[in-house]
Amino acid sequence: MNIKEYTEANRAAWNEVIPIHRKSSKKNLKTEFSKKGFSVLDNIETPILLNIGIKNRKIAQLCCNDGRELLSMINLGAESGTGFDISDEAIKDADNLKIISGAKCEFIRTDVYEIESKYNNSFDLVYISIGAINWLPDIDKFFSIASRLLKKNGKFFIYEMHPATFMLPAENEELKEDEDPFTIKYSYFSKDPWISDEGIDYVGKRKYKAKTTYEFVHTTSEIINSLISNNIKIELFNEYSHDVSTCFGHIENDKKVPLSFILVGQKE
Ligand SMILES: C[S@@+](CC[C@H](N)C(=O)[O-])C[C@H]1O[C@@H](n2cnc3c(N)ncnc32)[C@H](O)[C@@H]1O
Repeated sequence: MNIKEYTEANRAAWNEVIPIHRKSSKKNLKTEFSKKGFSVLDNIETPILLNIGIKNRKIAQLCCNDGRELLSMINLGAESGTGFDISDEAIKDADNLKIISGAKCEFIRTDVYEIESKYNNSFDLVYISIGAINWLPDIDKFFSIASRLLKKNGKFFIYEMHPATFMLPAENEELKEDEDPFTIKYSYFSKDPWISDEGIDYVGKRKYKAKTTYEFVHTTSEIINSLISNNIKIELFNEYSHDVSTCFGHIENDKKVPLSFILVGQKE
């Protein structure tokens, strides 16, 4: 399969799961975003974002889903936001939350690999978070797009699941007698897509007969090297023992394996 075939298959799967996610949590978000200043950003990323500067800045979020993180940054003082996501259903939710919050934002339904060149050199900050890069078959191409969207000296911010977690069984996986949650089950270096039809309802954790999804593991060195080769100077790289994914809460803070990371860079 080529990149487009993977991303279109994943688009169908995201369109399928978002109505399922809505049943679990969206009502609450609608109420929350009607309040001024509401933010879903946690107390790890918030001070880092405020420190690198979001106030009065133009922000792009890649793989923005329902836009709650971007809308939160507007509530924390950003000037405007543009969110890009491949899912038609996610963009519908983002547009609804935008109306409720009154934020100066636009949400664009597009494959990130096809973001139009009119957005080049437009943003002070490109923000990527939790459960985004595993959907992208080509990490180098993805970061080249992040880089072209940034103005010179613009900031790059990513808060993601740590690549090391993909070696371990997730919370919902059954363990064999000789396995424990730290048993290395999967290759860190595998380039084969992770193919599944078990569904992606990480919100309500419902099982359903799902459309096939294709996910990809990108190692830490691949992430760092492709940022460097795309003109992003790395300024901060933190690894954490807390889970950001809802899949590894059972080993959170055991301090054996890094479960998440934040990386900040600047376009040169
Ligand atoms: C888990 S969400 C990550 C966003 C946010 N951090 C969250 O937790 O909702 C993953 C998002 O990536 C989007 N996505 C997957 N592949 C994409 C692609 N090729 N282009 C744009 N968005 C994509 C999906 O539609 C989904 O909304």
